Amino acid sequence: MRNFGGMQNEIYNAGLKGVLPRYPVDFATLEKRAHEALGPMMTNYVAGGCGDEHTQDTNASAFHHWGMVPRMMVDASERDLSIELFGHTFDSPLFMAPIGLNGDATQDRRGDMAAARASAVTGVPFCASTLANDPLEDVKKACGDTPAFFQLYTPRNRELAESFISRAENAGYSALVVTLDTWLTGWRPRDLNASNFPQLRGRVMENYFSDPVFRSLLEKPPEEDLAAAVAMFAQVFGQVLTWEDMTWFKSVTDMPIVLKGICHPDDARKAVDCGADAIYCSNHGGRQANGGIATIDLLEDIVKAAGDVPVLFDSGIRSGSDAVKALALGARAVGVGRPYIYGLALGGDEGAAWVLQSILAEADLLMAVNGYPTLNDVRAAGAYRTDR
Ligand SMILES: Cc1cc2nc3c(=O)[nH]c(=O)nc-3n(C[C@H](O)[C@H](O)[C@H](O)COP(=O)(O)O)c2cc1C
Repeated sequence: MRNFGGMQNEIYNAGLKGVLPRYPVDFATLEKRAHEALGPMMTNYVAGGCGDEHTQDTNASAFHHWGMVPRMMVDASERDLSIELFGHTFDSPLFMAPIGLNGDATQDRRGDMAAARASAVTGVPFCASTLANDPLEDVKKACGDTPAFFQLYTPRNRELAESFISRAENAGYSALVVTLDTWLTGWRPRDLNASNFPQLRGRVMENYFSDPVFRSLLEKPPEEDLAAAVAMFAQVFGQVLTWEDMTWFKSVTDMPIVLKGICHPDDARKAVDCGADAIYCSNHGGRQANGGIATIDLLEDIVKAAGDVPVLFDSGIRSGSDAVKALALGARAVGVGRPYIYGLALGGDEGAAWVLQSILAEADLLMAVNGYPTLNDVRAAGAYRTDR
């Protein structure tokens, strides 16, 4: 059992020697400082969402209308935050959501490697995106002993899709996370007003450019004709998937298959019937469709529909208490998105690890104070809507 809450004493003890934390522990300060570090174009891409960003904002604010009730006279002097997932035991229920711009978030533009090293240090698994500045094999190695997941944007070209999947399997990834909601890009005014879409500028393309199947589609290698390689990326990106494709996915890999983007209970049931090994309840952080409902408000019904199949969750997690609420509503594992990119922007692997550790420290101390020694206790205590 890890004492995540111990970070608090470390911070106060350092303060006695006049040493202040290098990075903030709260999201508002983190976000402000990271936006300064990232600059306007990157900030648009990372912080921006779809339409007027109502869905994106409500993902985070909706956590405020969920509340937990503390229990007293319980010995919660030690807490166990560990979970079982895909045959592994993890010390904590957090994971790093796939972010297809990690690569550019650090000053050296090797942000995927930095995220992987943060995973190695914290034990929080990293879900590596298809869109990366370093090939998935190198990223997996940098995760050290912490198991990792690979997120697939399924290409239209089946041979290329199979190549990505087999590369991920051979590299030792523990699960294949298939993103369902992004066969095209949602309407993102911040990026549109700046006329900036990083992929079309040749960013985060390394998994494509290092792939033998992708390279075989090109007349000249990407190093010689970047524009043609990017045009080929645009041509092959974004297969529209239907339930029938699950048979194919199951036939091409032994990795557990996680379906990302499930928000409706009927879709969760269908996913289970089609053999999904986990459901990933997410609305892509409000980046893909506006006019939606905060995912935290949908989670309970998804968990019920999924039955024994584990449910992963993201969209709007900004703090340890958000994470505990998602666990109380039945998530097996909770994905951190924007906060860890901001950590990368401020301090690379160290910054991302700090952000994850801060979220875990707050979650752990909340469980201590609320009398929840285990995640089963969190789940039994539940969370309640306070606005009805
Ligand atoms: C800049 C950025 C890039 C993202 N790239 C991907 C990606 O490559 N693949 C994917 O499945 N989801 C991607 N997502 C969505 C995240 O995995 C996650 O669903 C989202 O960040 C959750 O919302 P939150 O960060 O507001 O909590 C991205 C999100 C952001 C902010």
